[in-house]
Amino acid sequence: MKLTPDGGDAVVSSAPGCPVAHGLPFSPFDDRITAAPWEWWAAARRDEPTFELSELELWYVTTYADTARVLTSTKEFSSKGGKFKPVDALPPALRDGYPSGHPGQDSMLMKDAPAHTRIRRLVNEALTPRAVASYEPRIREICNQLVDRFVADGECDLSREFATPLPLRVMTDLIGAPEDRDEEFLEWTKDFFVFYHGTPDPDPAMQRQIAERGRRVMGWMNDHIEQRRARPADDLVSRLVHATTPEGDPVLTNDEVLAVLSSFFTAGTETTMAFIPLLVRELLTSRDQLVALLADPTLIPYAVEEGLRYWSPARSTRRRVTADIRVGTTSIPAGATVHTSLMSANHDPEMFADPETFDILRANAKRHLAFGRGAHMCIGAGLSRLEARVAIETLLTRLPNLRMITEGRWESRLTIPRFTDFRVAWDM
Ligand code: HEM
Repeated sequence: MKLTPDGGDAVVSSAPGCPVAHGLPFSPFDDRITAAPWEWWAAARRDEPTFELSELELWYVTTYADTARVLTSTKEFSSKGGKFKPVDALPPALRDGYPSGHPGQDSMLMKDAPAHTRIRRLVNEALTPRAVASYEPRIREICNQLVDRFVADGECDLSREFATPLPLRVMTDLIGAPEDRDEEFLEWTKDFFVFYHGTPDPDPAMQRQIAERGRRVMGWMNDHIEQRRARPADDLVSRLVHATTPEGDPVLTNDEVLAVLSSFFTAGTETTMAFIPLLVRELLTSRDQLVALLADPTLIPYAVEEGLRYWSPARSTRRRVTADIRVGTTSIPAGATVHTSLMSANHDPEMFADPETFDILRANAKRHLAFGRGAHMCIGAGLSRLEARVAIETLLTRLPNLRMITEGRWESRLTIPRFTDFRVAWDM
């Protein structure tokens, strides 16, 4: 079975237990299913809540209760390993760009306690509620600068011109990278998905391009880490580099700092890039809710939570089963890779009444699992909520009578699909 970087050409045939709707077996790589997956997940929860997708050699867990259990049972469901070609098994041309392997292989997402706890505690310090609140003026400034660029045109591609540069700039700001590097970081982030979400099998020309980009980005990051080592500033990288144990030894190696930075890009940009246009689209197509929001902007945080529940931008998270185990009535063997379908959990009627309705006044929307749960729960949740809120406030204030021109386009991926080409217009 060959997974392509964006999954576009992968074929997944029906296996027993695989949910089917409209005659189509579920596949995470079918753009039609990615665009509106509800019926497949409803079929799974009804008929076989834990099922194996044998061609991808992974199992899906689909109910809210089972998903919460998997995410909080870290001994039975490890974040380490699992069925992906190890990201360090790179083709030779790529090894050029990543001589010690891709930093993603050391990501905190792929560690268990105690290694995970040690890193998480440090990163947490940069993302305390107070620290996150202090980023608001800068996020508002970025949003306004982006709108300034296209406001006079009367229309724009909201994905490309707003929702892509916003989280990217927030992230490069957070690590202290200059603005002229944004484009390169964006391409580099996309490269990561080639390793992480599919077989690293790009053609030779693409391999050379990825290797070259990897060399440049790794070079910049290593220099940056060394600079912060020599001259600390009040920022995330300095905090990571200078953290010491009670004995005075560094807590993190350079490679571990690199891994943290790379996990910020992969976990923190693509999710938000898809989420903001999806939330805008949902509001524009639920006119009465948009009117309520315009009348009372304090409802925006509620719309953000319901948007997270409804669209679950990280559709699933991955775990490795450490010993034979039962989930519901299904047995999963040791070593198997399990994906918790956050999307399905967030549409489980046992938890959310009338789950396929987008309702910004839903009383329990905040119980969604869009940020995961337990030890690995999204460390950037506060930051992404802030980005989404300020983004919506800015767009609704500065673009009067905002309306949709195109519906947007999906590019399927195993965990974080992309949502692009979403054009909107407004009155001038
Ligand atoms: C809509 C936006 C976002 C969504 C839906 C999202 C979703 C998630 C989910 C589901 C996890 C848990 C993964 C697991 O259990 O294996 C996670 C972890 C993580 N997220 Fe986010 N995320 C978002 C934004 C961000 C942002 C803005 C940042 C950067 C500050 C970020 C950084 C991280 C990191 C570093 C982890 C790993 C935490 C750990 O392993 O302890 N995320 N995210």
